[in-house]
Amino acid sequence: MNFGHFDDQHREYVITNPRTPWPWINYLGNEDFFSLISNTAGGYTFYKDAKFRRLTRYRYNNVPMDSGGKYFYIKDADTSWSPGWKPCKTELDSYECRHGMNYTSIKGEKNGVTASALYFVPLKTWAEVQKLTLTNHSKAVKKLKVFSFIEWCLWNAAADMENFQRNFSTGEVEIEDSVIYHKTEYKERRDHYAYYSVNVPVQGYDTDRESFFGLYNGFDEPQVVAEGKSRNTEAHGWSPIASHYIEVELQPGEIKDFIFILGYVENKEDEKWESKNIINKKKAKETIARFNTAAKVDAALADLRRYWDNLLSIYTVDSGDEKLDRMVNIWNQYQCMITFCFSRSASFFESGIGRGMGFRDSNQDLIGFVHQIPERARERIIDIASTQFQDGGCYHQYQPLTKRGNNDIGGGFNDDPLWLILGTISYIKESGDFSILGEMVPFDNDMSVARTLFDHLSVSFDHVVNNLGPHGLPLIGRADWNDCLNLNCFSNDPNESFQTTENKSEGSKAESLMIAGLFVVYGRDYVTLCKKLGKHEEAARAQSHVDTMIDAVKKHGWDGEWFIRAYDYYGRKIGSKENEEGKIFIESNGWCTMAGIGKEEGLCTKALDSVKERLDTRYGIVLNNPAFTKYYIEYGEISSYPPGYKENAAVFCHNNPWIMIGETVAGNGNRAWEYYKKICPSYLEDISELHKTEPYVYGQMVAGKDAFKPGEAKNSWLTGTASWNFYAITQFILGIQPDYDGLIIDPCIPDSWSAFKVTRKFRGATYKIEIQNPEHKSKGVRSVSVDGKPQDTNLIPIFGDGKEHNVTVLLG
Ligand code: GLC
Ligand code: GLC
Repeated sequence: MNFGHFDDQHREYVITNPRTPWPWINYLGNEDFFSLISNTAGGYTFYKDAKFRRLTRYRYNNVPMDSGGKYFYIKDADTSWSPGWKPCKTELDSYECRHGMNYTSIKGEKNGVTASALYFVPLKTWAEVQKLTLTNHSKAVKKLKVFSFIEWCLWNAAADMENFQRNFSTGEVEIEDSVIYHKTEYKERRDHYAYYSVNVPVQGYDTDRESFFGLYNGFDEPQVVAEGKSRNTEAHGWSPIASHYIEVELQPGEIKDFIFILGYVENKEDEKWESKNIINKKKAKETIARFNTAAKVDAALADLRRYWDNLLSIYTVDSGDEKLDRMVNIWNQYQCMITFCFSRSASFFESGIGRGMGFRDSNQDLIGFVHQIPERARERIIDIASTQFQDGGCYHQYQPLTKRGNNDIGGGFNDDPLWLILGTISYIKESGDFSILGEMVPFDNDMSVARTLFDHLSVSFDHVVNNLGPHGLPLIGRADWNDCLNLNCFSNDPNESFQTTENKSEGSKAESLMIAGLFVVYGRDYVTLCKKLGKHEEAARAQSHVDTMIDAVKKHGWDGEWFIRAYDYYGRKIGSKENEEGKIFIESNGWCTMAGIGKEEGLCTKALDSVKERLDTRYGIVLNNPAFTKYYIEYGEISSYPPGYKENAAVFCHNNPWIMIGETVAGNGNRAWEYYKKICPSYLEDISELHKTEPYVYGQMVAGKDAFKPGEAKNSWLTGTASWNFYAITQFILGIQPDYDGLIIDPCIPDSWSAFKVTRKFRGATYKIEIQNPEHKSKGVRSVSVDGKPQDTNLIPIFGDGKEHNVTVLLG
């Protein structure tokens, strides 16, 4: 069953039934000021950091689901309704939500009136603009009462949910004209306040929640709306809200717009006050004035659209398959940008208070957006590297607001450092900017021990070399990419968390074949980079470590039919035919085949066939098999999940592209494509009821074959799945890879395809690439011509001349 459809021309997903199987959300803002908004206007707003600067309150995992948001209540005679169906839940005559690129519009119709609410954060603005358009389609004059509603959060989203003995007494607001200001804690330790305005005079307002709703009512039945009149309350403690009350008269056919602005202001210490206890409202008024007419709002939306036109013009495919085109050209790129902005912090599965920016996560995310915003990627790389330690290890996470390592989770995840090599070389290959390598970057944010970014890459490489186990394979540390394979943690204390429990430090023999494969892939990239820089001795030294690793993998990491996953604390195999459960895992087989380890001897093909045979399912490739059915204390969290969920044998979508890429390295375009389609959301639209999460973005996991409901997805939006799938499809399947000296063209496609086209903007020129496949091959470039001239290599040069160049590639 479908709950809507794609509108590719407008780059929108159109939801036509508000009762989606889960709230289907969108993100507003792309720099400092952000909102999450569901298809029924649920969600919340924050400035930069969803934990420390939360502007509006949200109730996660509540009954009913998705409670609290940016609501409008419309009272028309005795009927109260909301354009997004919720919260009133009055049956609408029609409903439509359009989620677009950083904007959402929600339209409802009832008794001859349509109310359309457009929500977006204009570029370079610390505010969310809401344009509410009311249209009278009826033949009668309509006298409507409109109530807006938001609920303030007392800034720190964690304390806001905990410390009620304090919170209930601290809330403070100011009301002036049609603007409601939230100024809790402004006088003592905050230099910021928030406001909610409307561009017309109001007939009333409320700022005290209890007065607005009535203590025992839900969001669906505010007392004030029922009474048809606000109470003009001023909040003193308890829970401050902001609600405007506007009386509107509409003649038949008449349309009226109202502009609401939810904004944030920071003031310098000596500019905080207008007079005693009266906040300085200058900046708020400036922002309000920028958007006080519908024409100004429409112009700001047009700017936002142009911004996205530009971002989405850098890589576009025309394949003839609309499901593929809309993912590559629109939604997958959009999701990558969202992961850039939020890492793993705020979604409808991440509460915004738990996690900061992940070292490994953010580096991997980078491969999905570096082509769009190379300058911001550059800054991100420096921020991440600045939290690294001198020995190459790193904090697992850092806080976006302070950009400092966050010690709550600690460090010791031994895959972390290698991802910095991936992030950095992806940036250089895209931009050609080698100067980043010379930047002086601190360790643990301490500038006195700064070294160049290149040196950071060297210590990242050496962190593996310096932490080898008994088989010469990388020690896993706390865990590798799989956060749940906690081989050194031995936790059976209910008060401990798998995420923070320290390793049993002495005597561990736990080694990771996943890190081994990762080391070979990015170690080789490090070698190439050294050679590019003329550092031949370092290149030779690094190459010898890579070669030694390859030998170690072949000798101790091959199980006969596939690569084993790891050695545990005691030095026993995991992911081997000798094991009773968890005989085979996806990660080591993905990375060792991407690395091409043992390709000549046929190991890669064998491993990929084993994955196909044992891990592939209708809904994607599961992480391991057989699933763990009991708790193995020496494995940790992975065996604590019920079979088929999360890291215990779910389809963990983040790692499926590793196999897709492995298949392309082996030349199997058909299989790579088959795997791609299985988890790609646009191909799953028709099973939305089962799939549950948004059909326009990837979720982190889909329940595996051992689960109660295989095919059911969770944890949409903030997942490395976005960037890895984009990377796999664009660079390995469609095969257009940015490289130091040009674009490499090396597709690996299903042999049924006859042709496809890609337009790629790269280093100041536009490449119009046409791939023809008359002989229906999967891989192999037979001839290349550029602007009509034959070329004897599939590396297309850098032109940098601002012009278009036609590239024709014949496979065969
Ligand atoms: C989550 C984490 C990521 C980890 C993965 C596998 O997606 O954000 O860091 O690698 O789970 O456990
Ligand atoms: C849990 C999850 C994993 C996630 C980690 C984040 O271990 O299973 O997916 O990466 O928490 O801290």
